[in-house]
Amino acid sequence: MIEQTLSIIKPDAVERNIANKIKVFFEKNNLKILKSKKVKISKEEASEFYKAHQTKPFYKELCNYLSSGPIVVMILEGENAVSKNRQLMGATDPSKAEEGTLRKMYGLSIGKNSVHGSDSAENGKTEIDFFFK
Ligand code: CMP
Repeated sequence: MIEQTLSIIKPDAVERNIANKIKVFFEKNNLKILKSKKVKISKEEASEFYKAHQTKPFYKELCNYLSSGPIVVMILEGENAVSKNRQLMGATDPSKAEEGTLRKMYGLSIGKNSVHGSDSAENGKTEIDFFFK
């Protein structure tokens, strides 16, 4: 099934100038970048975006981080794009991510893990609307 999902290249990766490498990686792996823009969001916007995590102990840190510098937000499209993107990203914690995944290659820590991807098709729609509506 052809799906769309939201991908974010986080501040640690934008700062290290590897956003383009990450984009090429998605395209090589059959995820088409339909839309892409570089933005900087406020702490309030980050808090809204990550509200599903509001009860987690790292919520504040997470929102501070996502709003700490420019990010690149993209709509990815392809066969089973949601799970495909998650596969390409690898485990949340880069030290546990499989070889060849984005977080293994580029992630610095569980917070600075270079990329975000929607965790379901439903959340994908919500997250795409958040940045592109
Ligand atoms: P992401 O896919 O963007 O979704 C939620 C984020 O929370 C996750 O990636 C991690 O970067 C972050 N996260 C998860 N666990 C922790 C933690 N223990 N400490 C800090 N950040 C975390």
